[in-house]
Amino acid sequence: MRGIVLAGGLGTRLMPTTLAVGKQLLPIYDKPTIYYPLSTLACAGVRDILFITRAEDRAATERLLGNGSQWGMRIEYALQHEPRGIADAFLIARNFVGGERCVLILGDNIFHGEGMTALLRSARERKEGATVFARRVPDPERYGVVSIAPTGHATRIEEKPAAPQSDWAVTGLYFYDNAVLDIAAGLAPSARGELEITDVNAAYLERGQLCVERMESGIHWFDVGTNDSFLDASIWVRDCARRGECVGVVEAAALQQGWIGESELRAAARRLGKSGYGAALARLISAAPDSPCGAGARSA
Ligand code: DAU
Repeated sequence: MRGIVLAGGLGTRLMPTTLAVGKQLLPIYDKPTIYYPLSTLACAGVRDILFITRAEDRAATERLLGNGSQWGMRIEYALQHEPRGIADAFLIARNFVGGERCVLILGDNIFHGEGMTALLRSARERKEGATVFARRVPDPERYGVVSIAPTGHATRIEEKPAAPQSDWAVTGLYFYDNAVLDIAAGLAPSARGELEITDVNAAYLERGQLCVERMESGIHWFDVGTNDSFLDASIWVRDCARRGECVGVVEAAALQQGWIGESELRAAARRLGKSGYGAALARLISAAPDSPCGAGARSA
């Protein structure tokens, strides 16, 4: 399975900062935002990953993540010159995905909590169709919204509807079979001029192949895009860290997957030295994390 992190966009709600630096490179508490989706993919057992960035963020992103070998992953890079929509990721990633299934995660989405690893695992094991993750929100009109029948099946999906039919928001994490490449290639831009991920999901719904996993309250989800949401997410991550929970620590997920061992962890802790992240790694060395994606993960 191939992983795609979409980390482009203009970041207009974070200007002027994003005039100089892409949103996904900005820190949430002790690490850059893109560490969080990267660690979610690692938790899902996905180690071949394409990062799609703006041209101006490419060098900095590569300086930060390299080729991924420090985590036992393989990271490649591609550019999105204009924000043509989330589904544009599949046009850009076509060669990278080849004939495989894939998972797309938005570079500004954070997932964490009890049960997350199990959800990721069951989505990964599904061989056909699409899997999306829905979360109840008080303001569904800001998101893709999915209506779910009592049987658990999706009945309708809409992008930012003025009058939402449900309060289940579709989060920025999507698993697809290989048909997604052709579905995305056949999309027309929406009224706002974007290739909509919701249109991709609607195509799967029409085929009877859209699976919706509901994220219950034990799972935390942040979609960071404003000054307030950056601050809220940072405070939440700091509180988790104080309780000894690893959130967005890529090494913890890589260790859990068996992609790295103690010597790589020690090398990373040495390299990152006195930073809070380096200290968390040092604590990880003496504590075997039971689940880096869930609340059970302890770094102390
Ligand atoms: O976070 C979940 C929501 O993400 C979903 O509920 C919506 O269905 C989905 O459309 C999306 O809504 P947003 O309003 O959050 O999308 P936004 O335009 O903010 O883009 C999300 C991220 O993707 C953001 O980090 C920028 C990046 N992006 C976006 C577009 C349109 C790109 O890299 N390239 C793009 O062309």
